Amino acid sequence: MIAVAALTEAEAAAELAALAAEIARHDRAYHELDAPEITDAVYDALRRRNAAIEARFPALVRADSPTRSVGARAATGFAKIVHRVPMLSLDNAFDVADFNEFCDRVRRFLGLADAALAMVGEPKIDGLSISLTYEHGRFVRGATRGDGMEGEDVTRNLLTMAAVPRVLLGQAPALIEIRGEVFMTKADFLALNAAQEAAGQKVFANPRNAAAGSLRQLDPAVTATRPLSLFAYAMGEASEAVATTHAGWLDRLRAWGFTVNPLSRQLADAAAAAAFQQAIGAQRAGLPYDIDGVVYKIDDLAWQARLGFVGRAPRWAIAWKFPAEQATTVLEDVLIQVGRTGALTPVAALAPVNVGGVLVARASLHNQDEIARLDARIGDTVVLQRAGDVIPQIVAVRLEQRPVGAQPYAFPTHCPVCGSAALRPPGEVVARCTGGLTCPAQTEERLIHFVSRLAFDIEGLGDKTIREFHADGLIRGPADIFRLPANEAEIAKREGWGELSARNLSQAIQARRTIGLARFIYSLGIRRIGEANAKLLARHYGSFANWRAQMRLAVQIGSEARSDLGSILGIGEAIAEELVEFFAEPRNLATLDELAALLTVEDAVAPQAADSALAGKIVVFTGALQTMTRQEAKAMAEKLGARVTDSVSKKTDLVVLGEDAGSKARKAAELGVRTMTETEWRELVG
Ligand code: IVH
Repeated sequence: MIAVAALTEAEAAAELAALAAEIARHDRAYHELDAPEITDAVYDALRRRNAAIEARFPALVRADSPTRSVGARAATGFAKIVHRVPMLSLDNAFDVADFNEFCDRVRRFLGLADAALAMVGEPKIDGLSISLTYEHGRFVRGATRGDGMEGEDVTRNLLTMAAVPRVLLGQAPALIEIRGEVFMTKADFLALNAAQEAAGQKVFANPRNAAAGSLRQLDPAVTATRPLSLFAYAMGEASEAVATTHAGWLDRLRAWGFTVNPLSRQLADAAAAAAFQQAIGAQRAGLPYDIDGVVYKIDDLAWQARLGFVGRAPRWAIAWKFPAEQATTVLEDVLIQVGRTGALTPVAALAPVNVGGVLVARASLHNQDEIARLDARIGDTVVLQRAGDVIPQIVAVRLEQRPVGAQPYAFPTHCPVCGSAALRPPGEVVARCTGGLTCPAQTEERLIHFVSRLAFDIEGLGDKTIREFHADGLIRGPADIFRLPANEAEIAKREGWGELSARNLSQAIQARRTIGLARFIYSLGIRRIGEANAKLLARHYGSFANWRAQMRLAVQIGSEARSDLGSILGIGEAIAEELVEFFAEPRNLATLDELAALLTVEDAVAPQAADSALAGKIVVFTGALQTMTRQEAKAMAEKLGARVTDSVSKKTDLVVLGEDAGSKARKAAELGVRTMTETEWRELVG
């Protein structure tokens, strides 16, 4: 990475654009999808780099700069609620110097010389903040933080939580908004993940994601089954003053029936706060929930009002963070897992060690390069770090403790399960087993994928069951799953099964004999064909029979089917190649046909297609559009049932010409494809 001081203006502008997109993507992964791809530390580093570049080139600060937003925007699916008092975040302190600096700022701002600063310290739980509004003592609505200005209406989900009082006990103001943290305890989190895994459902990366994912369920019945806890701590909108100190406010919260973190303390001055930080730090690993620091708030609410806010954080509070939880242990072995697409993933087998209250025996090593970067060798003493996540990272190797004779780790050249060669294409970080369907590990992972939630979603057929059935020869390939009902009696006799559970499984399987084309394509587990690409393919080809036929033809490079496949927006060359490779393998075709004989694969229907003049038509946009973006035009066309492709062919029905339309306009003229101007297009679609 180039040092910020050495960046040219052009490089800085390009990097800011890239960072804005990347940070937005991670915000979405974290806040909306509850599935972060990077650790908090890496995320913070991206934000810091962005801020550093902006500080050096203030003129380049973008309208969509990450520094201008608190977090992710509200996701769709819930009604939006505007926070009348914004829900902001907190500034951080990482050591006593930062904390004293905070105290000095407060004193300077208030002109206090060296008066004692009474504060309240509250353990900082990394859950999700929530706003609860009560009118005349009755709970009327609850919202997530969202981007701090606008959140999601999760009232119905909050109503399933025992910790959210329906009615405030005793005297209550006409209007009061209470804020707090919804979270999951470590024990509840581990139990939920175990249950999710057994049921073949998604497991969560950490308690925070589990809490967020559970609260943001579109179906409140699901939330009701999730063990969510709540600590109340702050005030939003209020029709009248209810306390003069923060400690007094916490007393009111308790009296109304909320749970306030029992470790919260009133602290006489900064020295007491520093001692509190030590004391909580010492208890941290033994607490039933993960905390990442302590929040200190100036106790006097009149002072809080004077201090107010700066940027996105209050001047009257600070989050004093703990260092990430670390431990050292011995790397006993490197295990190689073989995934669905044959990827070989190294996993560290460790001498079990307690990291922040969680017993850890495994850590991810990511890939071959990561092992080389760490120079981790079997027998080494390694430093582990757990930053909220259950799966810890190895951050360093203690070279001074390396046993004599420890050899650099040799990454396997062959699949440890089936013995086929493992190849790592140039430029890629991952080595893959070339055994394909002959590799039992790949077969098993594919079967697990096949029945997973976004694929066939078969209830009662979790990872464990698939592995057992596969090991015992009950399921060899995906089609065998639909033959399980014929073996119901045999299954009922298996250990852990009975007649009822075997019958339930049969019914769950029968219920899935009809499936939409997009799900079907996704379930095949072809590399690079995730949910989104499966949908693109389903919409483009419409029916299973057509898709199969076209894919067979597309195996021929230069064929019309191949260029048609390449013309689907969003399907690039790498994806096309994976598809073609899949269809070139006779055993895959046999599996497909076996499945097709057992199932009803429903055609993909284009929305609103029936009554639109564009229904089923293939449209190409070319040249610079003046009144809308490409993306907008494409969405408009698709809404009306058209398919939008990138290149003009005989099959194209319509080419919309923007300004300076070049080769595609000529090609349309050559082939006699209908064309129109942007204005005509707008008239056509109304
Ligand atoms: S007060 C304006 N108190 O930390 C101040 N926040 O980094 C608003 N948090 O969004 C926050 N424990 O999700 C406050 N005792 C506590 C907290 C707490 C956890 C979270 C909260 C907030 C984030 C800010």
